[in-house]
Amino acid sequence: MIYSLQDINPKTYEGDMIFMYGDESAERVLPLGKREVELVKGKRSGERGVESGERRVENGERRAESGKDFVVAFDRLPSRLYFVSFDSERKGAEVQERLRLLAAEVLRLLERDGVREVALCGEGTLPEEVAAMVEGLTLADYSFDRYKSKECYHLERLAVSRVFFSEEELESQRRLWNRIYWCREWVNMPVADLNAERFAEELEAVAKDLEGVRCTVMDRKKIESLRMGGLLGVNRGSVDEPRFVVLEYDGCAGAESGEWRVESGEWRAESGERRAESGEWRVESGEGAPGERPIVLVGKGVMYDTGGLNIKPEDYMQEMKSDMAGAATMASVVFAAADNRLPVRVVALLPLTDNRPGGNAYAADDILTMYDGTTVEVVNTDAEGRLILADAIAYGVKNYNPRVIIDAATLTGAAVRAISTFGIAAMQTNAERELEMLKIVGEEVHERLVEFPMWREYDELIRSEYADLRNCGTTPQAGTITAGKFLAHFAKDVPFVHLDIAGVAYFTKAQGYYRAGASGYGTRLLYGFLQMQ
Ligand code: BES
Ligand code: ZN
Ligand code: ZN
Repeated sequence: MIYSLQDINPKTYEGDMIFMYGDESAERVLPLGKREVELVKGKRSGERGVESGERRVENGERRAESGKDFVVAFDRLPSRLYFVSFDSERKGAEVQERLRLLAAEVLRLLERDGVREVALCGEGTLPEEVAAMVEGLTLADYSFDRYKSKECYHLERLAVSRVFFSEEELESQRRLWNRIYWCREWVNMPVADLNAERFAEELEAVAKDLEGVRCTVMDRKKIESLRMGGLLGVNRGSVDEPRFVVLEYDGCAGAESGEWRVESGEWRAESGERRAESGEWRVESGEGAPGERPIVLVGKGVMYDTGGLNIKPEDYMQEMKSDMAGAATMASVVFAAADNRLPVRVVALLPLTDNRPGGNAYAADDILTMYDGTTVEVVNTDAEGRLILADAIAYGVKNYNPRVIIDAATLTGAAVRAISTFGIAAMQTNAERELEMLKIVGEEVHERLVEFPMWREYDELIRSEYADLRNCGTTPQAGTITAGKFLAHFAKDVPFVHLDIAGVAYFTKAQGYYRAGASGYGTRLLYGFLQMQ
C-alpha cells in the first residue's frame, strides 16, 4: 500500500473517500446530502434510518453494542463515500480498537466495490484515531498471496488528510507496519520453503541492508562448540541443520555529545533524534560494549513442530509452520527499531530448528545438557520449544549482561485453552516493573497480556528424578506456567518476562482485522515497549 498526505476537502473531493465522524460538533462539514444526514443520524440514535430514496444505500454490518459505531457505504457513482461513525467518548485505547475493527469492515466494502485508491479524512477526529483507522486498514489488507495464481485484491493507495500528522509520523508507522507484514509472511511460509537455514539467510539479508543492525548466524558446528544441548537435541531428528541467529541493534551508541546526558547510571534521551550510523559503533558481546545494557529478546524458532517422536495426533499438526512466530516477531521488532532509529540497545537471540521424528531423533528419557550446564530429562519430545529457548536465554545471561530478557514463544496449547485467542499469557521473575509496562502498552495497541502466577509450588512439578529438570510437568495441570517456570530457571536472577503467544500468533479463521493465518501479534507490543525506554 502506498500512503500519502494530501490536502483533502471532504465537501469537494471527487474520488472515493472514507469519512470518519466521531463528534457531533463536526456536523457543519459533513460531506452528506439531506437524506444521508437523516440516515446516519437515525443510526446514531438507534432509530431506523431512512434507507429508501433515489440513492442506493448500502449499510455495513450494524454494531449491536453501540448505536454510534457503524459503517455506511454511499454509492454516489462515479465515486463512493464510506462513512465511519464512531463513539469518540470512550477511553482512548478502546476507541482506537473500535476504529481498527471498523477499518476492517470498510476494507471488506472497498474490496467488494473493487476500490483500490481511497482518501481518508474526518472532522473533529484526533490524530491517534485516524492513525488507528490507517493501522486497521493496513493490518486488514494483508493476505498471504504468494502461492495464489490469481491476483488478489489489495488497497493500493491511501491518501490521508494532511491535517492529522506529519510525513515523518506517518513514515515511521509505515515502517513498523512493513515489518509486521514481513513477520506475517515468514510465519505463513511453509517449512518446505522456509527452513532454519533459509530463514537465517533471510534475516541476514534484511540486516545487511539495514543500518545499525549486526547479524551473526551460527551453524551446527558453532552451536556444537557452544554446547547448546537443547537446540542440538531437538534438531537431531531433522534432515535440516539448525541455526542460531543473533541480531544486535544499538541505538545508543554514536550519539553526538551534548545531545545526551547520563541520568542515574543509564543513558537517557534529552531531546531530538538519536542516530546510530553504522561504522560508528560496535557491539562486542560480553566485553563491556558501548551504550547501555541491552534488552534481550528471545524468540522460539521451531520452523515446524511435528511433535518429534511424541508425534502430534490427527489434525493437531496442522498450522505448526507457525511455531517460529516468536522468532519472526523478535526479528521484526529489532528491524523496526533500527528502521526508526529508536534510542535503545536491543539484541534478539533466535534458536532455529524444526522438530521431527527422524532416524536419530531425540527421545523421551534422553537427558540433555544445556548451554549453562543444566541437565534436562526429556519426558515429551513435543515440549521442544522450552529446550531451544533455554539455551538462548542462558546464552543471553552469560554474554550480554541484559537489563531484561523477554521471550516470545508459541509454547503451550494450555495457554490457548486458558485464554483462547484474545491475548498473551505472560509471566515474570524479577521483572514486575517491565511486565507492568508491557501491560500498559498492550492495552494501548490492543495486544493484551494477562499475568499468570509464578508461585514457588510449581517448581516441584518440573523437578526430575534423574536430572536437574524435566521438560514438562508431572501432570498436565498449569502447563503454561510450568513451561514459564522451566524458562525462568535459565534466566537466573536477570529480570525475565515470558510471553506465551500460542493463542494469538496464528488464527485458524479470520479474527477482527486479521485474516486467517499469521497475525504478527506481539510486534506492536514490543516495539511500543522499546519506544517507552
Ligand atoms: N508448539 C506447541 C504449542 C502450540 C500448540 C502452539 C497449539 C500453538 C498452538 C508446543 O511445542 C507443544 O507441542 N506443547 C505441548 C507441551 C506438552 C507436551 C507439555 C502442548 O502444549 O501440548
Ligand atoms: Zn511441541
Ligand atoms: Zn512447539
